Amino acid sequence: MVYIDNISEYEGREATLKGWVYNIRTSKKLVFIIVRDGTGLCQTIVAQDDVSDAVWQEATALQQESALEITGRVTADERSIGGYEMHVTALRTVSQAEEYPITPKEHGIEFLMEHRHLWLRSRKQWAAMRVRNTIIYAIHRFFQDRGFIQMDAPIFTGNAAEGTTNLFETDYFDRKAYLTQSGQLYGEAMAMAHGKIYTFGPTFRAEKSKTRRHLTEFWMIEPEMAYYDLPMNMDLAEEMIAFIVAEVVERNRPELEVLERDVAALEQVKAPFPRISYTEAVQRLNSPEMQEKLDQMAADRVDESSALKTERESLDAEFGQAKKGRKFQIDRRRGEINAQLDQIEEDLRNIPVWKKSALEKKWGEDFGGSDETLLTMDEHTPVLVHGYPAEVKAFYMKRDPENEKIALGVDMLAPEGYGEIIGGGQREEDLETLRQRLREHDLPEEQFRWYLDLRKYGSVPHSGFGLGLERTVSWLCGLKHVRETIPFPRMMGRLYP
Ligand code: 4AD
Ligand code: MG
Repeated sequence: MVYIDNISEYEGREATLKGWVYNIRTSKKLVFIIVRDGTGLCQTIVAQDDVSDAVWQEATALQQESALEITGRVTADERSIGGYEMHVTALRTVSQAEEYPITPKEHGIEFLMEHRHLWLRSRKQWAAMRVRNTIIYAIHRFFQDRGFIQMDAPIFTGNAAEGTTNLFETDYFDRKAYLTQSGQLYGEAMAMAHGKIYTFGPTFRAEKSKTRRHLTEFWMIEPEMAYYDLPMNMDLAEEMIAFIVAEVVERNRPELEVLERDVAALEQVKAPFPRISYTEAVQRLNSPEMQEKLDQMAADRVDESSALKTERESLDAEFGQAKKGRKFQIDRRRGEINAQLDQIEEDLRNIPVWKKSALEKKWGEDFGGSDETLLTMDEHTPVLVHGYPAEVKAFYMKRDPENEKIALGVDMLAPEGYGEIIGGGQREEDLETLRQRLREHDLPEEQFRWYLDLRKYGSVPHSGFGLGLERTVSWLCGLKHVRETIPFPRMMGRLYP
């Protein structure tokens, strides 16, 4: 079968594409059909003089998203989408589409989310899913090439791994079960059997927060390594991220272009990444330099806003006399400008809040989304923050032998405001200490008996981390909200489609 992504092999010859109408435009004697087949887009041209009446009738009757088989001679054309064109000789409608709800005009996000099953066909969504695929493949390659064994943690669990506040409870034959928040505890058992493992599966959090970084169902990659300490763990996380980003930059140029992603920023993501302690991070947030930077940010936003408003005024002035095609362009650009202005307005509302939160951040408090944004503001690469206050971290975290208040945990914060993409650390390996931690966290020892066993039979220092797939996709694609990074997002208030 011929696919658009290898249509170059058919240059100068006849080929048949099987796909759908992405866009159709009719003039007196020509029909321009942009065909999509899942691998890309191709411009096809039906000329009334070159085809039978039947083919012409069929071509002019097509609707957006009608399914078709289309045959013609392939020629190279730089100006065409994808670089090739098809001069049609034959056409068969496989199924005529009803009037398609998603048109090239702007749609609101709620409308698009309701039509997610169709929205997936749109170009940006298509591109984002291809980047997601590259990331998944890169992750497997990274670990497989380094001797890690992929193993699967269960999804029904009897015990909480990441606190008890956001568990999804289900009825498991008259017993309580939870949807897993993390495969880590099982990963630890598997690492003791295989040395280096990783899990790759869905995880669930009953997040009541409606932020752009939270899903209730998301995919997590969790490597776990016996005999690894925190620095080794951080080295691995850094090497993995640098590898994934390089793969996406190499394999997904066209997709990144569709997404209007700044590729130059991604090209700078090279190891080593900056590493700072939690304590330094708090000092940085509290510093007068941080306040100045935020003032500067606000001033820059005001300038950007007035430049955009000037541009919008001149577009408004032009609109009346503009031709149809240009009107369409102007509308598009006005849409972009309005979206940017909304974003700027939001930033200008947020900056004073961020200033206050940064200034007042106290040692012992967890970081919020805005703190994470500020801490990576000057970086092109992610930042590793290590040594968090034990109080804000999970029961299994090993403490710093030199300071009981500090947990040997690490978070990786993505640049450009995409927030935490990795959480992990070194695990407590001492039986009695772990028992004590369970008591401190009010967790019933009964449920964790199997986990404690790992500390009885050949306990060793070990570490691991969890990478959130959707947060990674959102960063690499430059998508502000994680809802566009997974085929069918699950969030508070969304169960369909
Ligand atoms: O930091 P978290 O909660 O860490 C753990 O679950 C550890 N047990 C992992 C480990 O050490 N094996 O979650 C890890 C990552 C976060 O950094 C974030 O990228 C992602 O999972 N994540 C979410 N992504 C989308 N929606 C949510 N509600 C998320 N919660 C966490
Ligand atoms: Mg975390």
